[in-house]
Amino acid sequence: MPVNQQILLDNRPHGEATVDNFKLVETATPALQDGEVLVRHHYLSLDPYMRGRMNDSKSYAASQALGEVMIGGTVGEVVESRHPKFQPGDQVVGMGGWQLYSVVDGNAPGMLRKVDTTHVPLSYYLGAVGMPGVTAWYGLVKIIQPKAGETVVVSAATGAVGSAFAALAKARGCRVVGIAGGAEKCAYATGELGFDACIDYKAHPDLKSMAKALKDACPDGIDGYFENVGGYILDAVLLRANAFARVAVCGMIAGYDGQPLPLANPALILINRMKVEGFIVSEHMDVWPEALTELGTLVAQGKLRPRESIAHGLQNAPEAFLGLLKGKNFGKQLVQLV
Ligand SMILES: NC(=O)c1ccc[n+]([C@@H]2O[C@H](COP(=O)([O-])OP(=O)(O)OC[C@H]3O[C@@H](n4cnc5c(N)ncnc54)[C@H](OP(=O)(O)O)[C@@H]3O)[C@@H](O)[C@H]2O)c1
Repeated sequence: MPVNQQILLDNRPHGEATVDNFKLVETATPALQDGEVLVRHHYLSLDPYMRGRMNDSKSYAASQALGEVMIGGTVGEVVESRHPKFQPGDQVVGMGGWQLYSVVDGNAPGMLRKVDTTHVPLSYYLGAVGMPGVTAWYGLVKIIQPKAGETVVVSAATGAVGSAFAALAKARGCRVVGIAGGAEKCAYATGELGFDACIDYKAHPDLKSMAKALKDACPDGIDGYFENVGGYILDAVLLRANAFARVAVCGMIAGYDGQPLPLANPALILINRMKVEGFIVSEHMDVWPEALTELGTLVAQGKLRPRESIAHGLQNAPEAFLGLLKGKNFGKQLVQLV
């Protein structure tokens, strides 16, 4: 069995997470038991939710235990199998964690899924045709429920979730407006991702300026907002929201290191008779097949061409992860492991 490398959560962050919260170790891979599969990971997915798991506080999911391998989605290849459903060479997606290899119980429901890479590259199963894509799908289709001609807005627009959101919303005939950090990301949003307009929040660093930029980009007001960030951007959206607007609260990354995110005018939710609904994509497994089919089709048709930021080598995962929390990624953040 191969020697494995793993990244463990060594200690919990106080405020901002740092590379010292993680520890790289080498371990032996255990021999396979009946029903088990050995997977060599090709890519590890880095996702903002991992920051929440590093804390020891009440949340929708249990904290990451200290001294254990960091949780994370992976794609890779079966290298050895003692399960009749999996053969060496099969390409699979799972939750292998921050390590080079994982031993998976092939009978555990949902732990390992074979994927077809004929039209969809393997890494996309961690992004556009994976959890982030389904997240965009759920918030748009089930919460915002857009009608053709409506205006929808998304923050963190060029990221894994935001880029899938754009393709899905354009397919439904919406005007799609993004909010992203920097002129380069905004140019990419309109030039490559299909956004009708994109606002650089770094050029609009306060509520008044952001509200004005939204007014210019959304002349008919805002009917749906997909919230990834929180803070003054949400305040500005509320100011421009139409009556009966819907907000899918997906993430509030501006507060993941513990920063407070006060709301300036919550009365606008009442005045505009708005629906504001939070969701966790893993609690809606029933929609995944439908969502993945649509996302895979958009990729195969060239209508969803996501960008990836790829770090190389497991040892570079902590730094890439911290960069993701600060917007240093440009598109889906991955770590290539082979
Ligand atoms: N509810 C769920 O089930 C679920 C599932 C998946 C993801 N999510 C959430 O969806 C959001 C996007 O996730 P993702 O995987 O697609 O990540 P991502 O957008 O690829 O990367 C995170 C982006 O957040 C932006 N950001 C970071 N700090 C910010 C700040 N202070 N203000 C404004 N923007 C900031 C950065 O983009 P800029 O450079 O443009 O600022 C960064 O690139 C996250 O909030 C995540 O927690 C929720």
